[in-house]
Amino acid sequence: MKINVFENYEELSKEVSEFIIERVNNNKKMLLCFAGGDTPVLAYKNLVKAYEEGRVDFKDCKFVGLDEWVGLDENDLGSCKYLLYKEVFEPLKIKEENICFFDGKAKNLQKECKNMDMFIEKYGPIDLIVLGIGVNGHLGFNEPGVSFENYTHVVNLQDSTKVVGQKYFEDEKKLEKGITLGIRYILESDTPILIANGKKKSDAIKRLLEDEITENMPASALKLHNNSHIFLDKEATLKINLKK
Ligand code: PGA
Repeated sequence: MKINVFENYEELSKEVSEFIIERVNNNKKMLLCFAGGDTPVLAYKNLVKAYEEGRVDFKDCKFVGLDEWVGLDENDLGSCKYLLYKEVFEPLKIKEENICFFDGKAKNLQKECKNMDMFIEKYGPIDLIVLGIGVNGHLGFNEPGVSFENYTHVVNLQDSTKVVGQKYFEDEKKLEKGITLGIRYILESDTPILIANGKKKSDAIKRLLEDEITENMPASALKLHNNSHIFLDKEATLKINLKK
């Protein structure tokens, strides 16, 4: 697990976007998985800017969504799909056939899981995954206690995820379950990258870096991967001693 610490969120986001651009320019046919959430938004904006400047093109890449709130879809402002379309797929002009995303409103969620598994089987393994981290250490909606062996699955959300998740929505939403790529996909990907910024993530980052590998800290799975990268800003490292 390679750890990179930056002065602030802007520098961190710049580095993350350049990291992605370099890899896409080396392998134009990547399968990419982008998280929703607030953390990666500035890096996504940088990608769009680079695309508009002609520095990178994603037209031969495929994309999968990392997760979605069960009960929400792209029409719900604040859903993962809404965010990814607005910040990434639409501005980058990604064709619909190159995207596989969960429909959180689907009646048959197992079918959604199967569709995702089939897409990844066809185009995978995933080359690069962009992840955020929950204050409880979750990756996607892999909540503490979830097996590292899962591929795509539906999860009961923890209270902290339900409470923190309200920040994405204008009106209060009933958040009970999530649908998510499992940790197994993250471990089988070529390059997982985790981004965290701000004091609010400093406890989770301390636990990630200092505690043992355990399913109670889903992000600790990244320590099992020999090409995982962690991008942090200084505030996210406030509680740890990083060796220089
Ligand atoms: P955030 O969410 O980027 O909005 O902090 C991260 C997460 O919960 O995985």
